[in-house]
Amino acid sequence: MPHPLFTLGNRLSLCASMVREGTKLVDIGTDHAYLPIWLVRKGRISNAIAADVKLSPLRSAERNIRRYHVEEQVSARLSDGLDAVFPNEADDIVMAGMGGELIIRLIGAAPWLKQEHKRLILQPMTSAEELRRFLAREGFSILREEATEEDGHIYSVMQVMYAPAQAGGGELYPYIGKLDGSTAESRAYISKCAVRLFKKAQGMRISGHSEEATALQAIYECLQQLCERDN
Ligand SMILES: C[S@@+](CC[C@H](N)C(=O)[O-])C[C@H]1O[C@@H](n2cnc3c(N)ncnc32)[C@H](O)[C@@H]1O
Repeated sequence: MPHPLFTLGNRLSLCASMVREGTKLVDIGTDHAYLPIWLVRKGRISNAIAADVKLSPLRSAERNIRRYHVEEQVSARLSDGLDAVFPNEADDIVMAGMGGELIIRLIGAAPWLKQEHKRLILQPMTSAEELRRFLAREGFSILREEATEEDGHIYSVMQVMYAPAQAGGGELYPYIGKLDGSTAESRAYISKCAVRLFKKAQGMRISGHSEEATALQAIYECLQQLCERDN
């Protein structure tokens, strides 16, 4: 009898919701391999690679793959980002729970991600602004972005594809991507971002960079308006 399936938390659930049904999935930085195991056991995908750069998370992934009886469908692989993954093995690539700067490096090291049929599901723990700027520069478009709350933290998850004609957005794009304040979680994310920009603007004003401070203040005010919209 296979072990009863665990429940994913809100953060990984949101990532899972952005993985296309029946896709070839690679979960980079898989750690316990919860995401690929869950997707396979739910019948949403038929196979996946659970990749990690470190041996001890990979061992934990292997143990869980056995525990949940998905040895035929999920394989654990030692890989720095996508280095040990062939382009034809991956159509949807998840990079979750990692810093934005690391995600930038890993995407940059795999130029084959620039194909329209690939999807990236990204959940940066830090530097989301830098990641969105990088994606826009490199011709990746955010198709969908949603925020979620788990254990008192707010996370944003984006589904991304290579589409240079649609990449990037307006002034607010680096800060909030496709979030629009239509859910409580999205407003919480935007509000947090607004507070950060307000403090940064104050710091700039104090250090004599009044033009930059005014520009940031304007963005702060737009973000505040999004948070205050009636829903
Ligand atoms: C905090 S865990 C995130 C686990 C899971 N993805 C999640 O979101 O819950 C980060 C994992 O990324 C792995 N990692 C860090 N750098 C990596 C790289 N360059 N390539 C692949 N995995 C990496 C770490 O070993 C660790 O297991």
